[in-house]
Parts: sequence; C-alpha cells; structure tokens
Amino acid sequence: VRSDAVVLFGVTGDLVSKKLFPALYELTRRGRLDVPVIGVARSPWDDQQLVATARKSVAEASDEVDDEAFDALAGNLSMISGDYADPVTYQRLAERLRDAERPVFYLAIPPMVFGSVVQGLAAVGLADRGRVIVEKPFGRDLASSAELDRTLQGAFDPTRVFRIDHYLGKEAVEGLYAFRFANRLFEPLWNSEHIDNVQVTLAEGFGTQGRAGFYDTVGATRDVLQNHILQVVALIAMDAPEGDDTDAFREAEAAVLRQIEPLSPEFTVRGQYAGYRDEPGVAPDSNTETFVATRLTVDSPRWAGVPFYLRTGKSLPGTATEVVVEFKQPQRPLIPAAGGAAASANLLRFRLGRGDGITMSIQAKSPGAEVASRPVDLSVDFGAALGRRQEAYERLLDDAMDGQHLRFARAETIRQEWRIVEPILDLSTPVRAYDRGSWGPADADALAGGWHVPDLG
Ligand code: BG6
Repeated sequence: VRSDAVVLFGVTGDLVSKKLFPALYELTRRGRLDVPVIGVARSPWDDQQLVATARKSVAEASDEVDDEAFDALAGNLSMISGDYADPVTYQRLAERLRDAERPVFYLAIPPMVFGSVVQGLAAVGLADRGRVIVEKPFGRDLASSAELDRTLQGAFDPTRVFRIDHYLGKEAVEGLYAFRFANRLFEPLWNSEHIDNVQVTLAEGFGTQGRAGFYDTVGATRDVLQNHILQVVALIAMDAPEGDDTDAFREAEAAVLRQIEPLSPEFTVRGQYAGYRDEPGVAPDSNTETFVATRLTVDSPRWAGVPFYLRTGKSLPGTATEVVVEFKQPQRPLIPAAGGAAASANLLRFRLGRGDGITMSIQAKSPGAEVASRPVDLSVDFGAALGRRQEAYERLLDDAMDGQHLRFARAETIRQEWRIVEPILDLSTPVRAYDRGSWGPADADALAGGWHVPDLG
C-alpha cells in the first residue's frame, strides 16, 4: 500500500526547505501526492508559517511555480510544534494520523534526538503501521550507527525502514549501473587488466553555507565520503548482480563494500580552508576537515592493484561530482603522441552533478604528415539527450511511499561504509590549511600522481 500521510520531523531545518518541500511540490504537481503532510519541530511554528516557508523554498527551487499545484500542497500541510521528548507531541500526531493506514515518517533530525523520536512513535503505536525514512548522518562511527540501528529495528519492522543516501536517487549516479550493465562495450574491460586507476571527486565551490555549527561536528569524511562517495565507488566497482531484483542489487552492492580495505591514515590528506575557523559556530581551534583526499583499495581479483583515488572538499575552484576511469596504454604503443607530448590515456569521465553526462577521451590521428595521435572527446550531455529527469529527493520520497527499497541502503551497507572510513575518523594530526578556490592542500596532489581536473562547466 502506498503511504497515505507524510510526517516531516525536523521540518524547520535546512534539508526540508532546500530539498523536501520542492520534492513534495513536484510530486503534487505530477499527481503523485495528495495526502496530509505534517511538519513536526520544536520551534513554535503555526500552519501559516509552514506554508510560507514551503512557498519560499518551492519558488527558490523552480523557475516557475504552478499555483494550482502549490495550493494543493499547501492545503495538505499542517504543523505540530512540540518537544521530541514529550509524549504529548506523539499523542497529537497519533490523533492527526487517526485515519492513516501507512504513514511515512521522515527523520531529518540530529542523531541525539533520534532515539526519543523512534520511541515516541512506538509508544503511541505509530511505529507498528508506519514506514520510516532515516537521513544521514547515521551515527558517528561503526559503534554508534549499530546502536541507532538497534533502536530503529526495535521499533520498526526492517521492511519498513528506508535509509536514505540521496546519491542513489540521482539519475546520473544510477546511470553508472545502466552504463555498465546495459552496454556490452565496456564491461569486458572493467578490470585491472585494462583500467589503470579510478578517481572520484566531489568538489564544492562554496563553504559551509550557514551550516558551520553542524558541519564542524561532522567534517568532510562523515559528511560525504562515508556515504555519497562510497556509494559511487560501489556502483563503479561492484560485480553484476545475480538477478534483476532489489535483493540481488543490494547484495552485489554490499558484497563489493565488504571487499574494500579500511582506509589508511598514511594515504589520507585532510585539509581545512583558510578562514573556516572564523565562521560562527566553528571552534577557534577546530581540527575538522573541510577537505579530504584518500586512496582506496578493493581487495578482489577484478581490482587487484587498481587504486581508487577519492577527494572531496568545500571552497574548491568549482562544484562538480565526477568519476574518471583511466585506462591503461595500448599493450604495444605504435603511435606516438603528436609533437612529442606525453602519451595520454583513454578516459571515461562520468559527470554526476549539474550538467550530468559522459565524456570519453580517445586518441585520434593528429592532422599532418606525422603519424601521431592526439586526444579528442566524445561527449553526451544527459539533459540535452534525455530531457528533464526527476530530482533525487522526489524519486526517493516517491519510492519510499510505495515501499520500494531498491534505492535505499541496507543496514549492512552503512555498517560497511563506517568500517571503511573508521581509521581516518578523528585523526589527531593537524589538518593542512588550503586557500579558498584551490584544489586543497599540496600534499593531496602527490597522493594520486595526477588528478584529472573536473569539468566545471
Ligand atoms: C549532503 C551534505 O549530504 O550532500 C552536503 O551534507 C553536501 O554538505 C551535499 O553539500 C552534496 O550533495 P549534492 O546533491 O549537492 O551533490
């Protein structure tokens, strides 16, 4: 059964206004959502305030607001203000959900109130009939995430738990899977015999955007490396699932994560952009990383000896999420690079962020008498080729309301992700400073022996 009510815990937060209101609006506009949407938060908001905030965030996210669709959403919105530790909050919610058979609870709340909310829902019987969507950060490390899991599983049946990593809802990220397994062309080459290295970059051209107080307790490793980047690595590195169903896919994803070696502090560079410590909410002596670069190894026959270089940071030269797969040189190099240049490799560049698409760099005959080659690009822009695609949160909310697990992480997946990053969490070595608008500390350059510069559009 499809969910017949949506409850947003943490409705006054950043995530709801940036992503969830626009997603709810789009679902309403497309006729996929016409059920009560109840916001819950500690702040004393009323229904008007909720609707006004929703309107503002929808206007910011869309070029043009369809008033009829927005009014339909607004008509479904209502607010409950209350303390997460107060049983009355849940009694009021239960009262409002009297007629709902399968409500979905979206927990966009900090980890420390997580337990109260889950227990509050269970105490009024709502956990027995609801679905729950859990946002990151899912704990702070392996032990605390296991603890959260126990709390969750103690209240909700596992078939009704949806752990969100919004990268799995992005068309271009899911497209990695289609690229590999819907084409005959590349999969035979997808191994250490032909691939030299893989690079994943999640670069952001902006800082903490007013979230410094939160960010300072988290840092780049926990914020995006543990989840989004490892999710991308899993899709690049996994073997073909044994079947075409949800279980087979999720099992193949977990299987490759199990093969990833824990990250090593020795091959990790952490940085912090200049001026970060002066931001409101940041500790004056903060050692939180706003940049991290590292090298990962997949211990499997397919990937033996192939390094995966990963990096992410805030206040870098621009915003782009990319995977670059670098192939080896031809076994017998017959054709030199034109003009005596160093030979360049075949590259597959997957652009996963705005302006998503794929670029393949191949060698072409360089014009002139000399038989030499030079690189040229074959490129596809998905927006131009495929038209509008759904936003991640829209797709994921729609899926969770239908009870579809394909694009949600298993408990084990998250555990494996924590296991992989555990050795580089909370390192006491001081972070390296880097200038805003640079590619991070100089040491990070040496790590990969040549990062490919992302396409910043
Ligand atoms: C979020 C992080 O999960 O992902 C943010 O908390 C980050 O810090 C964001 O900016 C990146 O997501 P996207 O979809 O903008 O690439």
